[in-house]
Amino acid sequence: MKTIVTGIKPTGRVHLGNYIGAIKPALDQAKNKELEAVYFVADYHGLTKVRDQKEMQELSYGIAATWLALGLDPDHSIFYRQSDVPEIFELSWILACFSPKGLMNRAHAYKAIVEKNRMENREEDEGVNMGLFTYPILMASDILLFQSNYVPVGKDQIQHVEIARDLASAFNHQFGRTFTLPEHIVDENTPILPGLDGRKMSKSYHNTIPLFEEPDKLKKLINRITTDSSGPKEAKDPNHSTVFAFYKAFASEEQTIEMRRKFQEGIGWGDAKEELFHVMNDFFAEPRETFHYYLSHTEELDRILEAGAKKARAKAIPLLKEVKRKLGILVHP
Ligand code: ADP
Ligand code: TRP
Repeated sequence: MKTIVTGIKPTGRVHLGNYIGAIKPALDQAKNKELEAVYFVADYHGLTKVRDQKEMQELSYGIAATWLALGLDPDHSIFYRQSDVPEIFELSWILACFSPKGLMNRAHAYKAIVEKNRMENREEDEGVNMGLFTYPILMASDILLFQSNYVPVGKDQIQHVEIARDLASAFNHQFGRTFTLPEHIVDENTPILPGLDGRKMSKSYHNTIPLFEEPDKLKKLINRITTDSSGPKEAKDPNHSTVFAFYKAFASEEQTIEMRRKFQEGIGWGDAKEELFHVMNDFFAEPRETFHYYLSHTEELDRILEAGAKKARAKAIPLLKEVKRKLGILVHP
């Protein structure tokens, strides 16, 4: 059976863009019975940014509750908190000893920070901690320890999966076949969801609609979506409308066809937004309840995540032993 692995780091409230671009495609893959899904809360990756105890706890539980509310079945997948699987960190150190520093220097995320610092006349590495610098090595460990075949990610993460593949190849070359070479999966059909202001929805732009927003707040946020100044009877171009982009993401195919027709014939923005609200509110009604249920029963979340970590460790321990044996570190099995 092939394995698919992905993680989400708890660095902000999950928004609709994350759902459409990352969570939904991953959940669709998890339903494929021919794949073993290994999905986790990447809390140690989050630590490169989040330094507040309460925030870390709330965001981590929030990610876990989000996966479950949207339908991840922990009995048919391996679902855990990264920090509960110490073997990941042991392997991470081993991989670090095999990673040329230049490989990390070339990682896009790090390069972007250096570039920005240079432009703004600051010290090159200002604001860069070693966790951030070696982020791709920890990610490689997440991927390689589970012999992952596929890694569903956003475009910004492709390079990280390539680094994991390079590290696996180098290790295999020297020590014989050990790690599976992972491939990234990026679905070209996955849309980039715009935010309230029409730019890409992103927590950095403060233009997001958080998942599981209460109906009254959701309504207010929808009313804030920017539109053009065309009148109620004027035809509107659905392909250049944020309202339509949202509608399409959450409505059925028939509803979308019908809405496209209304746009072309002329519909008032107020009415279009009202219909959008109903579609989204219906879509999230049940998941929202489940999400809040888990957030007020975090002991259940702990239980599910601990059971998942047990399953994850049952896979991780034998492979880590094999690696250590090959390195001459583990003498007695
Ligand atoms: P943000 O841009 O809010 O900081 P992240 O970079 O943490 O979000 O996103 C995690 C994943 O969610 C990304 O790898 C990407 O696949 C997906 N994603 C984020 N924003 C969007 C969006 N507006 N539309 C589609 N997918 C998105
Ligand atoms: N780096 C990923 C992100 O920022 C999160 C992540 C951590 C991940 N470990 C992973 C994704 C392993 C896939 C596989 O979105």
